[in-house]
Amino acid sequence: MSRLRTPVCDLFGLEYPIFAAGMGGVTLAPLAAAVSAAGGLGVLGATFHTPEQLREEIRAVRRITDRPFGVDLLIPTDIPPDVSARPVPPFPAFLTDLLPEVESLRGTPPPPLTLELAHAQVEVTLAERVPVLVSALGTPEWLVRDAHAAGTKVISLVGNVRQARRLAKIGVDCIVAQGLEAGGHVGTVTTVVLVPGVVDAVSVPVLAAGGIGDGRGVAAALMLGAQGAWIGTRFLATVESSAHDNHKKRILDVDEEGTMVSRCYTGKPSRVLRNRFTDRWKGRDAEILPMPWQRIWVEPLVAPAKAAGMVDLANFPTGQGAGAITDIPHAAEVFDRLVTETVQALERGARVAAR
Ligand SMILES: Cc1cc2nc3c(=O)[nH]c(=O)nc-3n(C[C@H](O)[C@H](O)[C@H](O)COP(=O)(O)O)c2cc1C
Repeated sequence: MSRLRTPVCDLFGLEYPIFAAGMGGVTLAPLAAAVSAAGGLGVLGATFHTPEQLREEIRAVRRITDRPFGVDLLIPTDIPPDVSARPVPPFPAFLTDLLPEVESLRGTPPPPLTLELAHAQVEVTLAERVPVLVSALGTPEWLVRDAHAAGTKVISLVGNVRQARRLAKIGVDCIVAQGLEAGGHVGTVTTVVLVPGVVDAVSVPVLAAGGIGDGRGVAAALMLGAQGAWIGTRFLATVESSAHDNHKKRILDVDEEGTMVSRCYTGKPSRVLRNRFTDRWKGRDAEILPMPWQRIWVEPLVAPAKAAGMVDLANFPTGQGAGAITDIPHAAEVFDRLVTETVQALERGARVAAR
C-alpha cells in the first residue's frame, strides 16, 4: 500500500495517520483492533464500561493485535456528584403515546456518568498500560498528569479554539478539532473553519474530525493543516463495528440531511439520526433538561428502543457523512480505501499546483 506519513505516526507508533474514533457501544475490541492492525489507531469507546468490562475489552484488543490502540472516556467535569439531588419530572406527557411501542422490550439504561466511575476507568486504562487515552467534553488537569506519569499519551476533542488553547496549556499530546458535521456531541463550528483555527492556535499536533468519510476528506484535512483524520461514522458502517444492524442499515438509506443536532437525548447538543423522537421535540427546546437529567427523563422510552435497534425512536449518533456511505465492508477494506484515495487526492492536488 502507498506511504502516507505525518509526524503523528511517529508520536503514536502508526503506519498511517488515520484514527477510528472512540464511539460508545460502537468501537469495541473488534473494530478498534481491526483499525490498529491495519496501521492506524483504533480507539475503544469506553464511556459506559464498568472497570471490569473495560479491562476485558482492553485485553480483547491485545488478543487480536499487538499494535498501539487507545481508550476513549467521557470525564464528567461539569456534572454534580449527586445526580439524585435534582428530581427528574414525570415522563413527558407529549411522549406517553409512544410508550406502548416499547412495553414488551427490555433495555438496560447505561450507568450514570459519575466522576467516581471515570476515576475507576482511568485507573484501569493506566494500569493496563494502554498507550493512548482520549477524552471528550473536557479534560481535567489530573488526567493529563496521571496519564503522563504512567507513560500514556493524551488526546482531547474540542469544538472551538478556546478549548484547544486551554488543553494545549495543560499539556495534552494531541487535539482533535471536531466540526459540526460530526456524529455525537458537537459544537457550532464547521470542520473547514475549526481545523485551521486550532492548527494556528496551538503547537501540538491536530487531527481533523467531522464529515470525513473518504480519502478526499482526509486529503482536505491534511491541506487544512491537520496531521491526520479522526473518523467515526464511516467506521461505524463496517462489519466489525458493534453498532446495531438497524443503525448501520439506516446509514445506507439516509442522505446528507438525514441527521440533525439536538439536545433531546442527552441534554447537550448531539448530532443524531433524525427520527420521530427528534421531531416530537420541535419547538420544545426550552423544556429540555441539562445533562445528565435529560437522558434519565426520557430513558423509559429511549433505553428499550435503543436495545431493540428502533432507529425511529432511539438515540443513534451519526454524522452528516452518512449521506455518502453506500456499503458496510470490513474495517480493513475501509482503511485501505482511505489510504489509497488520500494518496490519489494529494497527487491530483499536486498536479493542479504544477500546471
Ligand atoms: C455513534 C457515535 C458514538 C460516539 N460516541 C463518542 C464517545 O463516546 N466519545 C467521544 O469522544 N466521541 C464520540 N463520538 C464522536 C466521535 O469520536 C467522532 O468525533 C465523530 O464521529 C467524528 O465525526 P464523523 O462521525 O463525521 O466521522 C461518537 C460518534 C458516533 C457517530
